[in-house]
Amino acid sequence: MTLENIKLDIDYVRSQFPAFNDPLTKDWSFFENAGGSYVPKKVIDKLTEFMISTKVQPYAEYSMSKKAGENMDKATKLFAQMINAKENEILIGGSTSINLYVLSNALKKFISKGDEIIVTNQDHEANISPWRRLKENGAKIVEWKFNDQDQELQISDLEKLINNKTKILAVTHCSNIVGSINNLKEISKLAHKNNIIVIGDGVSYAPHGFPDVKYLDVDFYTFSLYKTYGPHLALLYGKEEILKTLPNQNHEFLEGNYPYTINPGGPNHEELVSLIGIYEYFDNLFNHHFKIENITIREKISRINNLISDHEEYLANPLLDFLDKDENFFLIGKSKIVDKNRAPTISFIHKKRSSKDLSNYLVKNNIATRNDNFYAWRCLKSLNIDPEDGVVRISLTHYNSKNEVDKLISLLNNFS
Ligand SMILES: Cc1ncc(COP(=O)(O)O)c(C=O)c1O
Repeated sequence: MTLENIKLDIDYVRSQFPAFNDPLTKDWSFFENAGGSYVPKKVIDKLTEFMISTKVQPYAEYSMSKKAGENMDKATKLFAQMINAKENEILIGGSTSINLYVLSNALKKFISKGDEIIVTNQDHEANISPWRRLKENGAKIVEWKFNDQDQELQISDLEKLINNKTKILAVTHCSNIVGSINNLKEISKLAHKNNIIVIGDGVSYAPHGFPDVKYLDVDFYTFSLYKTYGPHLALLYGKEEILKTLPNQNHEFLEGNYPYTINPGGPNHEELVSLIGIYEYFDNLFNHHFKIENITIREKISRINNLISDHEEYLANPLLDFLDKDENFFLIGKSKIVDKNRAPTISFIHKKRSSKDLSNYLVKNNIATRNDNFYAWRCLKSLNIDPEDGVVRISLTHYNSKNEVDKLISLLNNFS
């Protein structure tokens, strides 16, 4: 519970998202948020404004161009402040998968024959394949496997995998199947003692609270902005001291202009500017719930994070409890959220029926979900779950309501 005992005003939250009043969406309970979230009106407004008045090449002296450039810089600056990074530590790319391929290409320079890279079997493939490909550059790939009993990654197992050849560790902050929050701070501490570069995948974490990257002390961190209430873009954070040393992957004459030189091209301008709308949405949320002045952007985000996680815990715990206790279901991951140790990304299978049957039944009842492996096929294979039929995943976020979850539990209870 937050210090002030303030609860998230769910009616206010939902009033900010036009999707809840749209004829196509309004009758659905949307539980596929880990696949991509709805966007608040502020984001749509920023996108529209850019397209109407500043859809020109930015950074020239005429007013529309000047404004376009200013807003692009403003969006980057705001996001840097929101995650406690410096402005020149932020890169905006097309997706997390693209960001990680671009990054792995840049980090090749640190890899010599026989060096080791640790990947997990809990991650989405986006944070596995690019690193596994570095075996073409002579790297040996080592897999950090989750524990079969509770599906958790144990730091004690990681310790056994590290040696003086280990150069890179790619690990998810939160698995998009298991839902547990991995202790990136502890993981980074251990890795840095051994001079290992840590790449954190924050895609399943960030929609439930923007992270403080300096607190985590990761070297790189990426998340998909289309899952944090924005357009189809993804953010990549990198520590300045490492970014500075990476090769220019952009035009030759741009040499020295890091971080822009890491990406082979620039970001989508209009979508970048619409990110200001995410900040404004969070700022409004803050002002609606708190009457505090003279507070930094990062402090505002921390308070909102707490509000959101209290609400998500309130929504998710009854569903987790139901899935854990009903013997027809196998729930993956922790059966209770305590102290933000799990995201409300809840995957399960029915013990007698296919995930496809269960998902179809839910969809017929206006529950927006699906059965899939969600590109975490190694995780499913390790769980002995057919990656084709996959799991059913209910991924909640702060705009979901108690009524929606109650309806879902009652539908699951009646499925046979
Ligand atoms: C945990 C996780 N990592 C990475 C990705 C890849 O993100 P993107 O679709 O932006 O490439 C996803 C997408 O679902 C994900 O859930």
